[in-house]
Amino acid sequence: MRCQVGIIGAGPAGLLLGHLLHRAGIDAVVIEARSRSYIEGRIRAGLLEQGSVETLVEAGVGDRLLREGLPHEGLELRHEGGRRRIELTRLTGRRVTIYGQQEVVKDLVAARLAAGLPLHFDAAGVRVEGIDGPRPAIHFTQGGEPRRLDCDIVAGCDGFHGIARDAIPAAALRILERVYPFAWLGILAEARPISHELIYARHHDGFALATMRSETLSRLYLQCAPDEDPANWPDGRIWAALERRLGAVNEGPIIQKGVTGMRSFVAEPMRFGSLFLAGDAAHIVPPTGAKGMNLAIADVRVLAAALDGFFRRGETRLMDEYSRICLARVWKVQRFSWWMTQMLHRYDAEDGFEHHVQAAELDYLFQSEAAQMTLAENYVGLPYEV
Ligand code: FAD
Ligand code: DHB
Repeated sequence: MRCQVGIIGAGPAGLLLGHLLHRAGIDAVVIEARSRSYIEGRIRAGLLEQGSVETLVEAGVGDRLLREGLPHEGLELRHEGGRRRIELTRLTGRRVTIYGQQEVVKDLVAARLAAGLPLHFDAAGVRVEGIDGPRPAIHFTQGGEPRRLDCDIVAGCDGFHGIARDAIPAAALRILERVYPFAWLGILAEARPISHELIYARHHDGFALATMRSETLSRLYLQCAPDEDPANWPDGRIWAALERRLGAVNEGPIIQKGVTGMRSFVAEPMRFGSLFLAGDAAHIVPPTGAKGMNLAIADVRVLAAALDGFFRRGETRLMDEYSRICLARVWKVQRFSWWMTQMLHRYDAEDGFEHHVQAAELDYLFQSEAAQMTLAENYVGLPYEV
């Protein structure tokens, strides 16, 4: 097989890149390790910045998102009995939209298959060769058959545990990382959301977040131990903990339960030779700022524009600038996600200096419109450079 761009991974990053390249007349092949039903069923992020929504709509894959997504013009912070609504739209003129990541994935898979474009599921033993030159190749097996894809460019969109980042020689990559001493237990429950907006709560027992997927489906998160076994959290314990941290909750059957570790991670630069990393393959943010999927979409906008310039006009300027442009946003989003995380979680000592600074930070945020504006403009999404 041969194509211009070989894309490893059919998450939001790989699928959107494939879609944007197709619209630009550039041929790409997407290779995914898991099955279609697995990637369409995996429950993860759910909040889209306005720019992400606009990107998907402009790309022609936003019809269902516009119909079924839930636009939000504010969010609520809670701390020690106090409440503060952050008026996102009044402060910034922009809004965010709740729409599950797996719905974005379903829409992009449907568009790709409807256009008859190549998408190989269940690819095993994926590896790359020749990324230090102009003729890289991706090798994998499918149904036991060895396959080889020759391309001009490889896009590593295979998430944090993928193989693309590891294909870059260690000496050419700098890793910057912080692992947090807690995780999130997330549930999906057939219950009416407690509020029409998201609630982020800092409580003595730990952080809690109430979000949603629809008017009848609640998504709730609780701070827990980093190595927590979900089996230690029977439904009754989860509802009791949520009620303490959030006040009243609407209970209902829990249909999914999982623990997500919390990490800040950046691999730089995001390019080595003919390999470009995008999304979680290059960076991870803790989920408190709701940025993971949005950052993947922002990378892909830049990569699609760079590849368009290269294949259609022979320009390399944007390809050479790819890593710099992406990392400028990545680090601002890392800062915001780290800031939200450290402000809203419980660390061990609840009576030390850090705890008092944390409480003062929230107090200040509750009172100062300037502080609220800082949160709001980051939360709705910073402007794109490309
Ligand atoms: P991914 O979505 O990870 O896609 C990568 C794809 O590559 C996958 O389909 C994978 O199967 C495939 N792949 C992996 N290895 C290979 C290989 N060797 N060969 C071929 N294909 C491969 N963000 C938030 O903002 N809020 C949240 O609440 C939130 N919750 C999360 C919960 C979990 C459990 C996880 C893991 C992430 C969560 N995130 C959250 C982060 C967000 O989901 C990611 O930032 C987003 O998925 C990034 O998209 P991506 O396309 O870069 O990577
Ligand atoms: C959701 C997840 C987040 O991490 C967040 O900050 C906001 C919303 C969600 O799953 O809806």
